[in-house]
Amino acid sequence: MRIDILTLFPEMFEGPLTQSIMKRAVDKGLVEMHFHDIRDYTLDKHKKVDDYAFGGGAGMVMTIQPIADLIDKLKAERDYDQVIYMTPDGQRFEQRIANTLSLCGNIMILCGHYKGVDQRIRDHYVTMEISIGDYVLTGGELAAAVVSDAIIRLIPGVMSDETSALTDSFQDGLLSPPVYTRPADYNGWKVPDVLLSGNQAMIDEWREQQAYERTKQIRPDLLED
Ligand code: ADE
Repeated sequence: MRIDILTLFPEMFEGPLTQSIMKRAVDKGLVEMHFHDIRDYTLDKHKKVDDYAFGGGAGMVMTIQPIADLIDKLKAERDYDQVIYMTPDGQRFEQRIANTLSLCGNIMILCGHYKGVDQRIRDHYVTMEISIGDYVLTGGELAAAVVSDAIIRLIPGVMSDETSALTDSFQDGLLSPPVYTRPADYNGWKVPDVLLSGNQAMIDEWREQQAYERTKQIRPDLLED
């Protein structure tokens, strides 16, 4: 899989997507990440990439030309399954969308800044608009990193234990049950007996019950769907 990220701040990705499991996925050749600085494509002699909004109002709008030229260049090189725009007014990101996107070959993720991009970029290039939640970030970069992480870890071979992604919270519509590791007794804080019983059927039933109880308490909305 190849992910192209279009941004005014490529250096914002130096941390989150270059560590741990994400780094391993890249090193193993399971995913290619490419970061493109939108400013490199502006034809403006002052390197401007934004302008005042028609109709007035506070905040700058990212101009069409550098984004359009960059997207056209990338599209001429290969086909893309999706051109995603990160924006708080997009559809809410959830595990179901991560699952679908993890099956793509090539995706582009466009990060907005300031008041966002000129609507005509959204109308003519963008195929999917994603929000990571009902709050406003300073730009789409952190949101793009979140979406990329959620997608990449689902690519077969990325996680060392292939089954672990399947037992994540949300994969079966429930939150995850609690987990414990050694020691079985930490200064009197004990692990539930059932987990030490060796009876896998009982353990599975306990986990299911715990997942259901947790979901009912913390996210009852998940049980309504
Ligand atoms: N850009 C700014 N806020 C955002 C959000 N909540 N989700 C996606 N992109 C954003």
